[in-house]
Amino acid sequence: MSTFLTIAMPKGRIFEEAADLMRKAGYQLPEEFDDSRKLILDIEEANMRFILAKPMDVVTYVEHGVADIGIAGKDVMMEENRDVYEVLDLKISECYLAVAGLPTMEIRDVAPKVATKYPNVASSYFREQGEQVEIIKLNGSIELAPLIGLADRIVDIVSTGQTLKENGLVEMERIADITSRLIVNPVSYRVKDQVIDELVEKLSKVIG
Ligand code: PRP
Repeated sequence: MSTFLTIAMPKGRIFEEAADLMRKAGYQLPEEFDDSRKLILDIEEANMRFILAKPMDVVTYVEHGVADIGIAGKDVMMEENRDVYEVLDLKISECYLAVAGLPTMEIRDVAPKVATKYPNVASSYFREQGEQVEIIKLNGSIELAPLIGLADRIVDIVSTGQTLKENGLVEMERIADITSRLIVNPVSYRVKDQVIDELVEKLSKVIG
């Protein structure tokens, strides 16, 4: 009997591209996966279990070993120093992390406020720039913060740029390019190396 693999997939906008890539690599994810509200799907003939998690939580499932493998954004990997191996750049869900704000914003001399879902990335970025800022952690809709006076600037993901544009914000500095990565639990990599290497190889061949 071949080795059983549990794969944590990110829910939401990354899901479609990640599922596409898995299918191209020859893993027959059932169509029901795309629309269903189910959080666990087994493909018995392939000895695989897919679990659906929030993108920020995929790394937690993999780190704790309840998933052997996961697909996680580089943004999440940069924010949290977790005990997982990053084995492959899947080159999907391309976007970048940027500093943005209102075009009319005046630069404050003393500790401007920066709202973000990425407090660690933002802190180290501004520290490297030699700028002292006050970080305000939010969980989403970050673009709201400068509009209603919670923050002077934001550090957030930009994909199409539509959210910034529709809210009258402008990009000020680009921090890092982001793509999704294949991550692996270190123990799983030791005990299931053959089947994981096979998956990595199949995915490598279909990466754009
Ligand atoms: C992300 C990000 C921006 C938006 C950027 O938010 O935080 O708000 O997408 O995409 P765009 O450049 O194509 O407009 P997401 O939709 O993941 O939701 P969130 O606000 O809950 O973080």
